[in-house]
Amino acid sequence: MKKLFAVLGDPIGHSMSPIMHNDLFSYYQIDAHYLPFHVKNDDLEDAVKGLRALGVGGFNITVPHKSAIIPFLDEVEELALNIGAVNTVVNDGGKLIGYNTDGPGFLRGLELYMPSIEGKKVLLIGAGGAARGIYFTLAKEKALAIDIANRTVEKASGLIEACPYSTSSSAYTLDEASRNLEEYDLIIQTTTIGMSPKIAELPLNVTNIKKQALVCDIIYNPLETLFLQEAKEIGASIQNGIDMFVFQGALAFEKWTGIFPDAERMRENVLNQLGGKTC
Ligand code: ATR
Repeated sequence: MKKLFAVLGDPIGHSMSPIMHNDLFSYYQIDAHYLPFHVKNDDLEDAVKGLRALGVGGFNITVPHKSAIIPFLDEVEELALNIGAVNTVVNDGGKLIGYNTDGPGFLRGLELYMPSIEGKKVLLIGAGGAARGIYFTLAKEKALAIDIANRTVEKASGLIEACPYSTSSSAYTLDEASRNLEEYDLIIQTTTIGMSPKIAELPLNVTNIKKQALVCDIIYNPLETLFLQEAKEIGASIQNGIDMFVFQGALAFEKWTGIFPDAERMRENVLNQLGGKTC
């Protein structure tokens, strides 16, 4: 019988996950289908009960339910529990187990450009949910130092205090960080600044980025934010948010099927979906 997979979110119409996973199911000849469901906050518990009753193979959770889902699951892996957010659920013989593949997805994508982060000095820009997942994942991987710069500097300090993995970190304002950008080997932009439709904005002044740095932006719409364009002009290497999106999906697919899928195929599929509407 065909297995059901799903993604729950609000809004959900823009999600590229259904096309990405359905393409993989057919490519690997797995009898399964992946559907998007628009679920409001108040309906989340019922939605999870419904998926459980239907014997779903697994599902993804997206904004705004990644934290709210946790009490409705039977088990949550350590990293997801520490991050406080689940984006992937596996139905293991009736037991719903939650994982976070966002941070690990970022790391897998990063490895295409920077094979090891051990000993690297990292600057994370932003201190919201996306930053938290990436910060905890990198801290677990033993980056030498991971500083955090945020408009609200108290949120950056709060993230550092909350991290259960040992790393050396300081919190900075965006202005302070922009003055010291030459210290960093890896700079990761996680705020919403530069995302369509606010494409003309920058989180901070990039003049001091060093040429040898790798500069990542987790935004993929537009494919090249102003931040990445300016970093590229300075001579730095750049990476957009497509890889994080693709690899979070690849890791989820692997948890559901045991197959680590063809990430290049996934990337092509996502780029095709984005075609013509990237800004
Ligand atoms: P997400 O879950 O996608 O990370 P979020 O939790 O709302 O989203 O976090 C958004 C991030 O973008 C935060 O770091 C936020 O800074 P604050 O903590 O000071 O709010 C940052 N951000 C959003 N708009 C911003 C702006 N106009 N200027 C500077 N930072 C901004």
